[in-house]
Amino acid sequence: MNGNQNIFDDPDFFEGYLDLRSGRNFNDLLEQPAILSLLPDITGKNVLDIGCGYGINCLQFAQKAEKVVGIDISRRMLNVAMKENSDHNISYLQLAMEDLDRLTGPFDLIFSSLAFHYALDFGKLIEDCARLLAPGGILLFSQEHPMTTAAMNTDHRYVKDENGNCFFKVADYQSEGERHVRWFVDDVIHQHRKISTIVSTLCHNGFVITDCVEPKPDRKAIKQLPALARDLIKPSFIIFRARKGDNHADNT
Ligand SMILES: C[S@@+](CC[C@H](N)C(=O)[O-])C[C@H]1O[C@@H](n2cnc3c(N)ncnc32)[C@H](O)[C@@H]1O
Repeated sequence: MNGNQNIFDDPDFFEGYLDLRSGRNFNDLLEQPAILSLLPDITGKNVLDIGCGYGINCLQFAQKAEKVVGIDISRRMLNVAMKENSDHNISYLQLAMEDLDRLTGPFDLIFSSLAFHYALDFGKLIEDCARLLAPGGILLFSQEHPMTTAAMNTDHRYVKDENGNCFFKVADYQSEGERHVRWFVDDVIHQHRKISTIVSTLCHNGFVITDCVEPKPDRKAIKQLPALARDLIKPSFIIFRARKGDNHADNT
C-alpha cells in the first residue's frame, strides 16, 4: 500500500503495542487528555479520524457527531475497532493517509492521534486535509515531538551529569526524513520533520494555528506511571490545532 511500512500489521509489533496500551501508558495519561481538551464542539458534525487504530476516539466522537469516518492502514487495528468500538454512525475504512484523495468531504473536524509521524509526504497530507475540511473546519493532530524523532541513533539519549541532573541529547534535528527505530521490533520507520516544517506547511495551506501544546505530566499522572517524569525534561508529543481559513490556497 503506497510504499508505507504498515508496521501495526506485523504480528509481533501488534502484540507488543496491544500490551503497551493495555496497561498504564503515555497515551492515556498524557497525550489523550491534552488533545481531547482542544476538541471543538462536534455535535451534529462530520468527523474524520486519520490513523484511528482501535477506534477508541471514533467511538467517543460518535456519541455527539452526525458521522464519523475512521481510516487506518492496518487491517489488524481495524479488526479490533470494528469488533470493540463500532456504532451506527461510524464507518471504518482500510486506507492509508497517503490516499486521502479517495475520500470526499466535507468534514468539520479532522482528528489524528499519534499517526502523522508515519506520513510519507506531509505536504500532500496537509493539502488533502485542507481540501477535505469545510471552511472554518478544524484540523487537530498529535504526533511524536520532533525532538523525539530527531536522532538517527536512539541509544543513550538520556544522560546524567556528575550532580545527577538529567539531560536529553538532541541530534540530527536539521536532517529531515526516515528514522529507523527499535520499538517492539527492529526497523520501525518514523518520519522526522522539524517544527518549522510543520508550522509552515500548515500556514502555506491556509490554516490558522489556534493552539500548539507540548503536554507536560502532572504529579498525579507521574505517580501512576513514574516513567512520565521524563517528559518534564523533554516532551514526547506535540499537538497542533488549526482552523481552515476562507481561502485555503492563499499562501502569500
Ligand atoms: C500509535 S497508533 C495510534 C492509534 C490511535 N489513533 C490511537 O490514538 O489509539 C498509530 C496508528 O496509525 C496507523 N498508521 C500508520 N501509518 C499509517 C498510514 N500511512 N495511513 C493510515 N494509518 C496509518 C497505524 O496503523 C496505527 O493504527
